[in-house]
Amino acid sequence: MGYSTTPTKDDVKYFFFVRTKIYGKIREVIYFNNVSKIYKDATALLDVTFVIEAGEFVSIVGHSGAGKTTLTKMILAEEPPTDGTVFFESIDVHKLKSKDLTNLRRRIGVVFQDYKLLSNKTAYENIAFAMEAVGKTEEEIASDVPHVLELVDLSHRLNHFPDEMSGGEKQRLAIARAIINQPELIIADEPTGNLDPVNTHEIVQILKKINDLGTTVILTTHNRGIIESVNKRVITMENGKIVRDTKHSK
Ligand SMILES: Nc1ncnc2c1ncn2[C@@H]1O[C@H](COP(=O)(O)OP(=O)(O)O)[C@@H](O)[C@H]1O
Ligand SMILES: [Mg+2]
Repeated sequence: MGYSTTPTKDDVKYFFFVRTKIYGKIREVIYFNNVSKIYKDATALLDVTFVIEAGEFVSIVGHSGAGKTTLTKMILAEEPPTDGTVFFESIDVHKLKSKDLTNLRRRIGVVFQDYKLLSNKTAYENIAFAMEAVGKTEEEIASDVPHVLELVDLSHRLNHFPDEMSGGEKQRLAIARAIINQPELIIADEPTGNLDPVNTHEIVQILKKINDLGTTVILTTHNRGIIESVNKRVITMENGKIVRDTKHSK
């Protein structure tokens, strides 16, 4: 049986209930063990060690060039580290063969500064596409997409194309797409880089809501001001190094 009516707030909560039940308990999701990444002309990461536990909301703050994006690329195994080891749970991500790497990446939702939406597909189709990629049925797609659009407050944009949407709406759609397959971790790399203060605040609040519903969140930004309202852990990076790691942003 599908959902014929507009989803209620309780449906949205239920949608993420299982996630909270399974992943609510404390355990390591990410472990960087003395990780360095040296490019020809730049030291992007230098001897970086930290742990992120399930359920955390971690902001990574640093100026442009501090190494934030490189850090996220290490988690997704897009490039190998020069030194050190990166674990997702107990998996050494850089030892994975391609099929296992695809499976790992499916457990991580990624949000970028420039949205990376499919411009020839509607909001609904953008999310459906991500579900088709992991073998979801038409019924599952028809049932889940309205829920996730409700969660990001975008129900009224179901049949709109990205070009017909504001920057804030596009980023909310990108977030919906990132969470639709219920990943354990969301990585949002400068998600508010192209947004005004009002939309920035909304995006940060949506990420916080997703975190409250049980998903671990990593948010990178060069703008410390945007995470003041979050009041969660902040890792500060300078020149590829972690220079501060504080429990609360306030
Ligand atoms: N593919 C690459 N090749 C060479 N240098 C790179 C590459 N990616 C990043 N860097 C360099 O590594 C440093 C960190 O970059 P990056 O991780 O993108 O920082 P941030 O995301 O904090 O702005 C910068 O000096 C950057 O120029
Ligand atoms: Mg970056």
